[in-house]
Amino acid sequence: MKSIKVFAPATVANLSCGYDVLGLAVHAPGDEVIMHLNNSGQVTLDVLEGDEGRLPRNPEKNTVSAVVISYLRHLGVTQGVSIELYKLMPFGSGLGSSSASAVAGLVAINELMGQPLTREELLPFAMEGERLACGNAHADNVAPALLGGLVLVRSYHPLDVVRLPVPQGLSCALVYPHVEIPTREARQILKTHIPLRDAVTQWGNVAGLVAGFCTSDLGLISRSMQDVVIEPMRAMLIPCFDELRQLALEQQALGFGISGSGPSVFALCSSLAVAHKVTAALEAKLSEAGIGSTAYVSEINLQGPVVKNVQPVLAKA
Ligand code: HSE
Repeated sequence: MKSIKVFAPATVANLSCGYDVLGLAVHAPGDEVIMHLNNSGQVTLDVLEGDEGRLPRNPEKNTVSAVVISYLRHLGVTQGVSIELYKLMPFGSGLGSSSASAVAGLVAINELMGQPLTREELLPFAMEGERLACGNAHADNVAPALLGGLVLVRSYHPLDVVRLPVPQGLSCALVYPHVEIPTREARQILKTHIPLRDAVTQWGNVAGLVAGFCTSDLGLISRSMQDVVIEPMRAMLIPCFDELRQLALEQQALGFGISGSGPSVFALCSSLAVAHKVTAALEAKLSEAGIGSTAYVSEINLQGPVVKNVQPVLAKA
């Protein structure tokens, strides 16, 4: 009996101006998977905790098991697998919850099978998990969850993913206001055409942000964190959005925006100390408005998934 435990991190997608092409991993929260190989010939989802009973139990329909099924099909292997998924983070929160589950599942099965695929080669399977979860196979959560760090999805067809340098000390303040915005719906409200002048502003900012990461130019990062395309359409879904931005910038955040499709908001900061001040100010504002929230502060997670071996005592027959 072979068993393994894998933690995969939450992620911030878009990073303001980089809709569907930029993302980063944080150290916490995240999801944990415990996986056991067995002789059943079936992939089963035997434990699912932390979702208040709201995610599918059917292994074909839950991201964590669906990606394992496609991975094994790709290898041409009939292998019995028992999965335990511990959701240690909220879902529908804009923190890449479905990605964390898919990535934890894929890394676990790939380790148990002896690493036939590289982390990069696992990415298309994780992207299909996103399609199952929200209807679209974007990579800006799964790529940083799988590879760690700051990631640029340079192209989808063909897939071309680039890890970017991370400036020393760069930290992320995250606040999740306790309202739910399903990614599928937050994508459906977006207009599919944008004026050329907005496109010019946006690609200038994306290039500036990438250049800022590559040269550790915090001023350039700060100037570039402007989203004139997506944020104007989604900001109204998020409570107190404008006030939260103003407060984050007053606390010296480099920039502020929606984390993924929201409702979580994030700020990039020059240090953990600044990030703590930002989350304190944002949580106080939300509490004043009668909205509960959860805050997370983290340096950029360069490592990505963490693989831990499980003690045999946890292994199932
Ligand atoms: N880029 C995606 C979106 C991320 O903004 O819809 C979803 O978490």
